[in-house]
Amino acid sequence: MEPVKSSLISPCTGAKYTTPGAILPTVQEDPATRRKGSSKHVFAVLLLSLIGSLVLFSTISKPESSSYSLGSFFASVATPNFTCSAHNGGSTSHSGHIGLKGDTPKNPKRSFFWYFEAEQTPENAPVILTIGGGPGTSGLMSPVSGQSPCGISEKGIIFNGNRWTEHFNLLALDHPIGVGYSYGTTVNNSRDAAVDVYDFLQKFFVLYPNLRKNKFIISGGSYGGVYGPNIATVINLKNKAIAEGKGEPGAKHINLESIMLSNPYSDPISHFRWTLHYRCVLHQVHNSTTCQELYTILPECLESTQLAFEIPTVENRVAAANLCKVRLNAGSTHGTVMEDTRKKCATYPDMGDCFPYFTWISDTFNNATIKRELGVPDEIKYVTLSDEVFEAFHSAGDQVQPHHLMFPPLLRDGIRLLHYIGAEDGNCAWPGTFSSLKLLRTPFQQDFLNTEDLIWENGIVPNTTVRSVGKGAGNFTYILIPEAGHFVVRDQPALVKSIVEHWVQNESFIS
Ligand SMILES: *[C@@H]1O[C@H](CO)[C@@H](O)[C@H](O)[C@H]1NC(C)=O
Ligand SMILES: *[C@@H]1O[C@H](CO)[C@@H](O)[C@H](O)[C@H]1NC(C)=O
Ligand SMILES: *[C@@H]1O[C@H](CO)[C@@H](O)[C@H](O)[C@H]1NC(C)=O
Ligand SMILES: *[C@@H]1O[C@H](CO)[C@@H](O)[C@H](O)[C@H]1NC(C)=O
Ligand SMILES: *[C@@H]1O[C@H](CO)[C@@H](O)[C@H](O)[C@H]1NC(C)=O
Ligand SMILES: *[C@@H]1O[C@H](CO)[C@@H](O)[C@H](O)[C@H]1NC(C)=O
Ligand SMILES: *[C@@H]1O[C@H](CO)[C@@H](O)[C@H](O)[C@H]1NC(C)=O
Repeated sequence: MEPVKSSLISPCTGAKYTTPGAILPTVQEDPATRRKGSSKHVFAVLLLSLIGSLVLFSTISKPESSSYSLGSFFASVATPNFTCSAHNGGSTSHSGHIGLKGDTPKNPKRSFFWYFEAEQTPENAPVILTIGGGPGTSGLMSPVSGQSPCGISEKGIIFNGNRWTEHFNLLALDHPIGVGYSYGTTVNNSRDAAVDVYDFLQKFFVLYPNLRKNKFIISGGSYGGVYGPNIATVINLKNKAIAEGKGEPGAKHINLESIMLSNPYSDPISHFRWTLHYRCVLHQVHNSTTCQELYTILPECLESTQLAFEIPTVENRVAAANLCKVRLNAGSTHGTVMEDTRKKCATYPDMGDCFPYFTWISDTFNNATIKRELGVPDEIKYVTLSDEVFEAFHSAGDQVQPHHLMFPPLLRDGIRLLHYIGAEDGNCAWPGTFSSLKLLRTPFQQDFLNTEDLIWENGIVPNTTVRSVGKGAGNFTYILIPEAGHFVVRDQPALVKSIVEHWVQNESFIS
């Protein structure tokens, strides 16, 4: 049996839509969780007074928020003094909690974010939202693994030269509630979780109104392949409603421009169909006996997944998840690390043991000094991998749905889609993703099938290939990176920085 912890970060081996409430709750700033001694942080003080003004004059305060009937909501923001986020004295970062719909001091529902300002003209720089995978992993893991200026080593917080924040604002979100430092009332599916993100973003842009007009990009990986299209779909539908004058009171347009996914799990059928091909044919992750046994499960796995698509009851979806995610992943790898088939680890799949930085991240974010700097109340425990969230999403059948079918409508509406894939990942292995993208009925399908994988001479990772449709960096682009596993940004931080810069600035990869 695959241990739960392994599936937590290995979604690949792994809703209902509720109308979000129109009015945000009226909850006052909770002094207990307000950061003490932040007077040296001018911006934090300004923010706190802005929040104060929202509490006092909820509909008449600033012009920016005057049409906003969001009311007041809980917000607590600190400006941590970590030197990594203020490297060269340039940018800085802000972190804290925002209360979501239904949040009260007694029954909280609060999202934790860590916003890193762009070093160059943050007021005009694109905003990249970054979330975790799982379901159940903290949204701070990728940021401290190469995206943000702050990394984490054995010694604690360090500076990361390959940060994305030279040109872009980075907004890390512990998503959904129950992971990382986000706490309170939880949800059990990705669509409800996406509605929570929309609520969070509306409020975030009240706190940072200058960022609202900027390009907005969603970044995810792994189970982010489920979260990402759900968040994008909710934003896109709400934007359309606003354009038709049918928006919720106070809600404003969010400038969603594109989605970037690394080694995602989005399309269960393509994923399972090619999983064993990767593990048994292209690579020898299992031995021949194990492969033979696993291949006998595959037809039933594909049938049950198809059934779950056609008759999408919770029972059918959970049955397919148990068969495909659990049994198909149960074979011994004899120490080969599924997330990076180049690596061996005697105690695999013990994640804490095989990926020591998981433990460093957990230790760092549970350190009382670090928590105080981030504005996190002492009593909130940092949850790197939440079993509770995983179980809730699993039991609701969140994993086995045709999530990839959310992409075509988004692409048709001009939202660009990037996939950048570590080829050494046996967990969300590239053949399943590539197959899914080829089958996707989008305006770009024919061109995507007809075009070639071209070698991108990036000077960092040889033989990285790009298959792209559309001008500039493309509308529909697939990048395959030879020397990277599941955790692409950690494996190739310099290359990923370059990919993100090309993509967001819409510069062609192949000159
Ligand atoms: C940040 O503040 C903490 C106290 O909250 C202090 O211990 C630490 O030395 C400060 N770090 C820097 C880099 O100023
Ligand atoms: C394959 O691995 C399984 C599980 O460790 C073992 O029982 C079996 O004997 C191995 N088969 C071969 C051919 O090595
Ligand atoms: C927490 O972090 C601070 C600052 O980095 C460090 O001085 C302290 O030793 C850490 N505490 C523990 C218990 O690790
Ligand atoms: C998911 O959560 C909703 C709302 O709390 C609840 O009504 C529903 O029963 C849950 N679904 C499952 C399968 O647990
Ligand atoms: C590609 O994306 C751009 C930017 O959103 C959009 O204007 C354009 O129409 C898209 N191309 C196609 C063929 O849909
Ligand atoms: C790149 O691919 C070519 C053709 O497959 C191969 O000959 C070459 O060794 C590869 N280069 C590296 C650095 O892996
Ligand atoms: C990307 O750049 C190309 C030119 O290289 C341009 O034709 C296209 O419209 C741009 N797309 C976006 C979304 O700006």
